[in-house]
Amino acid sequence: MSAEVIYGSELAEQLRIEMKKEVTTLKEKGIHPKLTVILVGDDPASKSYVSGKQKASDFVGMTSDLILLPESTSEDELVQMITKLNNDETVNGILVQLPLPDQINEQKIIEAIDPNKDVDGFHPINIGKMLTNQETFLPCTPYGILTMLKSKNIEISGKNAVVIGRSNIVGKPVGQLLLNEHATVTYCHSRTKDMENYIKNADILIVAVGKAHFLTGEAIKPGATVIDVGVNRLPNGTLTGDVDFETAKEKAAYITPVPKGVGPMTITMLLKNTIQAAKNQSK
Ligand code: GUN
Repeated sequence: MSAEVIYGSELAEQLRIEMKKEVTTLKEKGIHPKLTVILVGDDPASKSYVSGKQKASDFVGMTSDLILLPESTSEDELVQMITKLNNDETVNGILVQLPLPDQINEQKIIEAIDPNKDVDGFHPINIGKMLTNQETFLPCTPYGILTMLKSKNIEISGKNAVVIGRSNIVGKPVGQLLLNEHATVTYCHSRTKDMENYIKNADILIVAVGKAHFLTGEAIKPGATVIDVGVNRLPNGTLTGDVDFETAKEKAAYITPVPKGVGPMTITMLLKNTIQAAKNQSK
């Protein structure tokens, strides 16, 4: 059997076309969705993510401002900048690109953002709402993954979902969203013993480890859905995920590729959250 490949890139394009129409309608009503992104320092990977966000915002007709701050920016300076944006009525969504330089406490920065403008869904208030299944901004990568699963009508309720990785940005929230959809969720991580026993029983496997070829087809249950969140650059410069795509494809029923998988969906859900923020704030 060869798995059906879920191209996030194709779904993202469809969704962005719909969003473009929605933004046009909103503008006719005087609502102009605007995202402000803050990038501290000049990490090349962060710069590349940020430029992807800018391009996608342009495509849907949304204003996207970029504030570039030097690597030496202090925590107080960044908090002051965020406070200014919190109070700026023309700004609907605020995103501070992570990671931040060592002198800045990331959690303090996340908590400085107005929860109503927290389009990343990282503020504790929004995480709490997600946990209790209330409407809120969902973290973009987990939200994108859920949207991909739903687009293929993949059953989640009652299934064994195994999340490998427990980051605040991906692992923890994606497990929570799957739990909200009634999956039986197991988290595996660097200290998990006999991880293969969990993996071989997983109907849905979310792999967010950050190691190329971490998971091979041999380990997975036939017919599983495999979502690869990894983005790893090989010594020859090519991008690859955490899953050995060629072997996993032969065992899985559905699989996401890297690139063209989860990545484009993350940015798309950021746009969706920003449009939602603009609508909420216009009420
Ligand atoms: N760095 C890597 N992924 C993300 C993300 O989803 N949001 C922010 N703000 N920073 C990131």
